Amino acid sequence: MLVLGIETSCDETGVALVETATAGAAGTADAAGEAAASGLPRLLAHALHSQAAMHEAYGGVVPELASRDHVRRIVPLLREVLAQAGRTLAQVDLVAYTQGPGLAGALLVGAGVAEALGVALQRPTLPVHHLEGHLLSPFLAEPPPRFPFLALLVSGGHTQLMRVDGVGRYALLGETIDDAAGEAFDKSAKLLGLGYPGGPALARLAEAGRDDAVPLPRPLLHSGDLDFSFAGLKTAVMTRLRGFGPAPSEAQRADLAASAQAAIVDVLLAKTLRALKEGGLSRLVVAGGVGANRRLRQQLDAAAQRRGFAVHYPPLDLCTDNGAMIAMAAAMRVQAGLAQPQRSGSFEVRPRWPLDRV
Ligand code: KG4
Ligand code: ZN
Repeated sequence: MLVLGIETSCDETGVALVETATAGAAGTADAAGEAAASGLPRLLAHALHSQAAMHEAYGGVVPELASRDHVRRIVPLLREVLAQAGRTLAQVDLVAYTQGPGLAGALLVGAGVAEALGVALQRPTLPVHHLEGHLLSPFLAEPPPRFPFLALLVSGGHTQLMRVDGVGRYALLGETIDDAAGEAFDKSAKLLGLGYPGGPALARLAEAGRDDAVPLPRPLLHSGDLDFSFAGLKTAVMTRLRGFGPAPSEAQRADLAASAQAAIVDVLLAKTLRALKEGGLSRLVVAGGVGANRRLRQQLDAAAQRRGFAVHYPPLDLCTDNGAMIAMAAAMRVQAGLAQPQRSGSFEVRPRWPLDRV
């Protein structure tokens, strides 16, 4: 089965093709080999356009600009993916797209294109939950994780710990009560005058700074539960920055960036270790844009070595939003017998949609 995945929930247009080795019209001998061994769908091609440069001037995503840019990019990306994979549209068996959560206008572009393709090609479509895409994206890496595992979902809009017992079997253990970890990175970066998206920019500046140079709070570190709170951290960063006076030196800015990153990572690490222990789990999956953060990865890897648990990440280029994770989640849901692809032509998007209600 050849699955086309379309992602347009925020500021990245992503298109991808995955193939399952199981029954389906377009299966070929080459795809059957590797993927059949694991039974997992195989990524054939993916293409991505990031709008980061366009939104940078505004310091954040401008929803209307995002929607318009998705319209411009989606068909060229689709052509690119088909060419890369050496397939034609007629070979596509299922069209999957992000239904939510995300920006309503942006979601509508992907959903509209996907449903139109479904009608034109007379193929079924499947709406996918964006976070389920992130959650299952480590199955695009080698070696893939095994169920059950703990998932740390850290994106621009979400910070969640979930117990995952199988495809579609997600139990929320804890989440942020205010800002997401990605937001904490983005807002701290903005205060420091760095570009958008702030996470990678702050991480780069932090490389020149000292992690313990500026005292910052570790919110909810000892709260005894698995919830997070990052809003206060942003305020603390602002206060410390003001303390440096009107013209902070490059070294002071780097120290503050390093200290903010350390504070965010410390809390993510502590809660993750707590969740692994409480749940008796020995496998961790890290997904979402912040999962690309080098310090977070180093700390989790070191803890994994010490404590003997396994950590799985998506491939680095598939940590942030992309079409591959959407195609993968759709294919895995179909394989698990959880999804009924439909030929409807009508659709709705779900800008707000909790993952434990898929
Ligand atoms: O998953 P994602 O691409 O989009 C959402 O679904 O939100 O995550 C984007 C978030 C942004 O907040 C971005 O600043 C953050 O991930 N991010 C990072 C890094 N790369 C992306 N944060 C810290 N360090 C990074 N290297
Ligand atoms: Zn995302």
